[in-house]
Amino acid sequence: MLDTLTIRTQQTTASRLTHLDPERLEFGKTFSDHMFVVDYRDGEWQDAQILPYGDISVSPANSALHYGQAIFEGMKAYKNSNGEISLFRPYDNLRRLNASAERMCMPLVPEELFMQGLSQLIRLDSAWVPDSPGSALYIRPYMFATDGFIGVRPSDTYKLVIFTCPVGLYYNKPLRVRFEERYVRSAEGGAGYAKNAGNYGAAMYPTKLAQSEGYNQLIWTDASEHRYVEESGTMNAIFVIDGKVITPALSTSILDGVTRRSVLQLARDWGMTVEERKVSAVELMQALADGRLEEAFGVGTAATIAPIAVIGYQGHDHELPAPKPDSFSSRASAALHAIRTRQTPDTHGWMVA
Ligand code: COI
Repeated sequence: MLDTLTIRTQQTTASRLTHLDPERLEFGKTFSDHMFVVDYRDGEWQDAQILPYGDISVSPANSALHYGQAIFEGMKAYKNSNGEISLFRPYDNLRRLNASAERMCMPLVPEELFMQGLSQLIRLDSAWVPDSPGSALYIRPYMFATDGFIGVRPSDTYKLVIFTCPVGLYYNKPLRVRFEERYVRSAEGGAGYAKNAGNYGAAMYPTKLAQSEGYNQLIWTDASEHRYVEESGTMNAIFVIDGKVITPALSTSILDGVTRRSVLQLARDWGMTVEERKVSAVELMQALADGRLEEAFGVGTAATIAPIAVIGYQGHDHELPAPKPDSFSSRASAALHAIRTRQTPDTHGWMVA
């Protein structure tokens, strides 16, 4: 990584690291000591700083709070057995952050700024990167509008922040999901492919309804017919049918997941047939009834691979076979872990030190 950008650093005088219990890492509740902050105004990024993690003040008229110009990313850093830290595919996250920025009329983030801010932050908080099995440092870059103006137009000013949190497993058991046939996450031509805050906020009500029925998450379906799978909760969805790895093709309503892309690459490396295409609820239910649906799982940065145990469809729950150690999802999960912790060669160049 380059080392040229000036980032003013103010180190904390009261590290909270001593309070961290690495055996009890709950997702998203404990934050590392520092954060990277940079402002966009007068058409350029300026005042890059690393500060103690803390509150940010905004105008009550902050336009992100009113009109939703807010985007984010999720990525992870891993520590290997020699204590060396590497990031998993950070350039892919930056590319997607910028795709989201373009969709939401926000400024693009230059590669050097992003990578410098990120690497200096991780270096400073390197002791926060956990190394227990299944753990990682979750990295949350996000950008939001900062104009204090309630007219509806893209903001002139923005803030990019990166903070981190040591995390363990996102889900600790296989998921119960159900097809959503009323509400939609996104429609073709919408902003579903962008990681903007509103996509997640609008998903909460239908998800809450499903949770009150005993499910963990939804399988989102397409906006026009509610026939085809889109995503699974906050993850991409992958199925193994007749030994083939099948997943909905990317579109303007589906997030281009970095974990999705990595898992499909592993399948191709292992000579499996990968189909990126429409997958209907009827096809899945038929394959399950015939014993041909071998696996269903969600893939995402936070959860990595989250097996699905039960799928609810039109009022009935359908149980899936439990994943075995030689199932594709188990092997892919182990292979990703081995690459991330540098136990096997990183033949794709995914890890960035
Ligand atoms: C991720 O998997 O990183 C996500 O963004 C999902 C969720 C934590 C919002």
